[in-house]
Order: sequence, then structure tokens, then C-alpha cells
Amino acid sequence: MAQRVESSQVEARPVDPKSANVLYHDAAARTYDAKWAISFDDRCISYVGERAERMLPRARYERVLELGCGTGFFLLNLWQAGFAGEVHASDISPGMVAAFLETARTLGCDARARVADAESLPYPDGSFDLVVGHAFLHHIPDPSRVLREARRVLRPGGSVFVAGEPTVLGDRMARSVGRVTSRSWRAAARAVPRLRKPHPGEPSSEADRVLRDFEWRVDLHTFDPSGLADMARTAGFREVRVETEELASSLVGWAVRTIEAEAPPGLLGDRWGAFAYRTYRRLYALDRDLLYRFVPKRLFYNALLYGERRG
Ligand SMILES: C[S@@+](CC[C@H](N)C(=O)[O-])C[C@H]1O[C@@H](n2cnc3c(N)ncnc32)[C@H](O)[C@@H]1O
Repeated sequence: MAQRVESSQVEARPVDPKSANVLYHDAAARTYDAKWAISFDDRCISYVGERAERMLPRARYERVLELGCGTGFFLLNLWQAGFAGEVHASDISPGMVAAFLETARTLGCDARARVADAESLPYPDGSFDLVVGHAFLHHIPDPSRVLREARRVLRPGGSVFVAGEPTVLGDRMARSVGRVTSRSWRAAARAVPRLRKPHPGEPSSEADRVLRDFEWRVDLHTFDPSGLADMARTAGFREVRVETEELASSLVGWAVRTIEAEAPPGLLGDRWGAFAYRTYRRLYALDRDLLYRFVPKRLFYNALLYGERRG
């Protein structure tokens, strides 16, 4: 387990990546759902359900464990979509585990959750039928160790399903779009004063300071799709499949998020959110139905991994 580090120590000395993840995600837990537009209604149930239908050969798994569960976006929506029977979750951040349990309670889900490092899980061998994770593997120093642990806690024949992991090229392209959008916005704001955001000033709380100082220190990896598949095979999985998603939708999505970060509060108006979401859905369908047939999969932004534990 990573050592807890008080946030006042943050600037005084370097913090190892695991402690940085605990600090950052503890500070992020309370506002995480709002920041990432996470909900537990039809919108996010179908988002998660569509990915499960694409990757999982079965429609239901009895004992399911999530690694790096955060506030519950993936597993609690997977459970609502009917894919999971018994719900178990784990995360290295105590703040995230508390948020997960609170959401499970409001949804009426009898979930169990533990604070745990995915590199060394506190569960006995062969405990689960399915191990899942979303947008967590790239935060962990040794992802291959996580896959070996996932295999260990799976029953023979059990499955692993990971989604939302950034690809090397998809991430590079998306960040370039972010940089170009930011530069263009700032150039326009020099000419048009109402586009200028007021200077943010110093953070008003320790949590805000941690969020500001650690945002870029918790993402540790991006993945080449074929490298991720090899990693899963080496960890002892068979029937390994890696798919990717989001090309046009990711590039436009990054431009949208950059504009949201650069614009002064109130400028974009009430209809911006609905417009951005509709645009994302249309481009996502274009990526899935057309571009995925022609464009190399390593150019898409997110990787999804499926594998089965050998009997
Ligand atoms: C980007 S968040 C994703 C949360 C959630 N899966 C989701 O999709 O909303 C990454 C999560 O991974 C967790 N995490 C980071 N390092 C971890 C580790 N070594 N073991 C377990 N969880 C970890 C963080 O605390 C955080 O909750």
C-alpha cells in the first residue's frame, strides 16, 4: 500500500507515483462525477452497456471485482445494465472507495469495497468470475503486475475486461489538438477581452491545491494496442482481444474540453453541454460505423481489453 503523504509535504519533496495517485484521487473524489459528467442514469448505463456488449461473450457474471473503481462509474453502471451479480470493488484511494460505497447505497446495490493497491490485491486466488477496470491501468506503475494479479484472483475460465485506457498515438494526437485549441483561444482572447478568463489566483483549499499541482503527475502510461495484448498473454490470459474506439469523437472532445477550461465562467451558455454531448455521440457513431473499418486501430484514443484465464 502506498504511504499516505500530507499535502503540506507536496511541494517540499518529490512524491512517488502511487502516493501522488492517492493524494490526487482523494482530493478529486468529492467533485469527480461532476467533472467527468458521470451519472448513474440511462446515459451512462448505455455507455457502459454498449462497451460490455462489444467485448464480453456473456451477458452476466456472478462475482465481479472492479480495480481502480473510482466513484463507481463502470461497475455500478455495469451492474445496473444487468452484467454483474455480486459487486466487489477496490481502489487505492480511500476517498474514492467511500464515494463508491455511498453511490452503491443510493442505487440500492449491496456492494463491498476495499482500499487496495491493484498491484497486490487482498483477495484469495480464484475468487471472481470477472475482473473489470476503466481508465485506471495507465495510473499504475507496473500494469503487467496488475494483469497478473487479475489473473490470480479469477477462477479458471474467468474473464478480464478493461476499458478506457489511452493509446500511445491517440493520446499524442488528442493532446496536440488540445494545445492548438488552447493557443488559438488565447490568441483570440488577446483581441476580444470577453473571451479572457480571470486569473485563477491561489487555490482556496488544500484539496484544490493538490488537484492543481498533481493533475499531470498521475497519468503514467499510454498503451500500444498490440503491446497491451502481448502483456495480457504474458500474464496468462488466452482468447485475448484488444479493440479501440474514439477517433474523430476524441479529437473534437479534447477541443471541447480545452474550450471549457479556457472560457470565462458563463460564456458558453446553457445549451453548450447538450450541443457538446450530441456532437460527441454523432462523431462516436461515425468512428464506430465507418472509420474503424478503414483507419488503423492504434490511431483511436481508447483501448479495450478482453482475456480469459486458462483453466
Ligand atoms: C481516472 S480514475 C478512474 C476511476 C473509475 N474507474 C472511472 O472510470 O471513473 C483512476 C482510478 O484509479 C485509482 N488508482 C490509481 N492507482 C491505483 C492503484 N495502484 N491501485 C488501485 N487503484 C488505483 C485512482 O485512485 C482512481 O480512482
